[in-house]
Amino acid sequence: MSTLGVGIIGSGGIALANHLPGFALCPDTRVVALCDSNPDVLARASQQTGIAATHADWHELIARDDVHAVVVATPNFLHGPITLAAAKAGKHVLCEKPIAMTFTEAVRMAEACDAAGVRHMTAFTYRFVPAMRYMTHLVKRGDLGQPYHFRAQRFQDWGDRNLGWRQVKKLAGSGELGDMLAHRIDYGHFLVGPVAKLVSDQQRFLDTRAGGSASDLDDWVAILARYATGATGVLESTKLATGRGEGHYGQDLAEVNGPDGSLAFTTQKPLELRVGRKGAKDLETVAVPKEFLVYPGSPRDPGQGDPVATFRYDQDYEFVAAIRENRPCVPSLWDGARVQAVMDAAIASAAEGRWVDVPLVG
Ligand SMILES: NC(=O)c1ccc[n+]([C@@H]2O[C@H](COP(=O)([O-])OP(=O)(O)OC[C@H]3O[C@@H](n4cnc5c(N)ncnc54)[C@H](O)[C@@H]3O)[C@@H](O)[C@H]2O)c1
Repeated sequence: MSTLGVGIIGSGGIALANHLPGFALCPDTRVVALCDSNPDVLARASQQTGIAATHADWHELIARDDVHAVVVATPNFLHGPITLAAAKAGKHVLCEKPIAMTFTEAVRMAEACDAAGVRHMTAFTYRFVPAMRYMTHLVKRGDLGQPYHFRAQRFQDWGDRNLGWRQVKKLAGSGELGDMLAHRIDYGHFLVGPVAKLVSDQQRFLDTRAGGSASDLDDWVAILARYATGATGVLESTKLATGRGEGHYGQDLAEVNGPDGSLAFTTQKPLELRVGRKGAKDLETVAVPKEFLVYPGSPRDPGQGDPVATFRYDQDYEFVAAIRENRPCVPSLWDGARVQAVMDAAIASAAEGRWVDVPLVG
């Protein structure tokens, strides 16, 4: 295989915003076909990208000989069936988060990809934020000592607008938990390791959203976690933080405190880290060093484009690099399964009002 052919399944928001520009940066890689069940979305995506090969049925895209790898960017309930079919057909898989509807399904997906010998990746995009990568490097190097606390806050204002499939349990599985907190659960895994047990609360404040559409999912979620290391975690996410903005705006904080210091970053300032030193009165701002501005090997020019958007392209580079180098992608579907284990435990905890143990994965 000289040119890697990629097929995109689900040609909506994230496919166009992240994956198309991401693959455009990758050497010897071409998005050869698009799929979407909505003909208007498919026509628009084809027109915007110039990719003429389009399919309404994802089975057809997977069956194409020129598709060596697929991106699964559909609503969540389809991630499992598409990933299993792609693995069976010998295609590498980059799957959007949350990767599955349940932990059991997530494990089945990761196992199927391993058994088929294809590369597999979870689109935990924020692992590629330069400040996040630098922060992880410092934590792993031991600059803070053994972390005491991890906290994550994702506060946005989506008002009462219609969220489409995102507000329907049978299509999304969970609401704010899978939509926004999944990434932050992964931050915690990345920074302080696996969650051992947790207690969670989840609430739906809006049963009906704009246009009278019913929602049967949480629009606020919080998790109080105990990590296997003994560190504590407090994670909160909401779409109802009025006046906070949304998307690239809004609070997206990850912070770690240890005996020798604290580190914090917000995605809104992806090239800065806030550093707390022993005895200081407040955190100070430190620029992310040059060597962390792009993912190792990525041809992306860090001086080009809006840094709040452009780090996202590095995840497609990692997917292609892992395929070329015949090594596991980071993060893999196993990382997606680890997050799914926490999500399942959070749903059980909120339903039953008790602490729940989280199974260790891998
Ligand atoms: N990694 C990230 O930062 C990030 C950001 C946003 C969304 N996501 C994830 O990406 C996925 C898609 O989210 P989105 O915001 O792009 O949603 P979207 O609604 O904009 O796009 C999803 C597309 O899938 C299509 N689709 C539905 N059923 C299909 C089928 N049977 N076959 C083919 N296409 C089908 C829809 O028509 C739609 O165009 C979700 O899992 C979401 O959680 C991840």
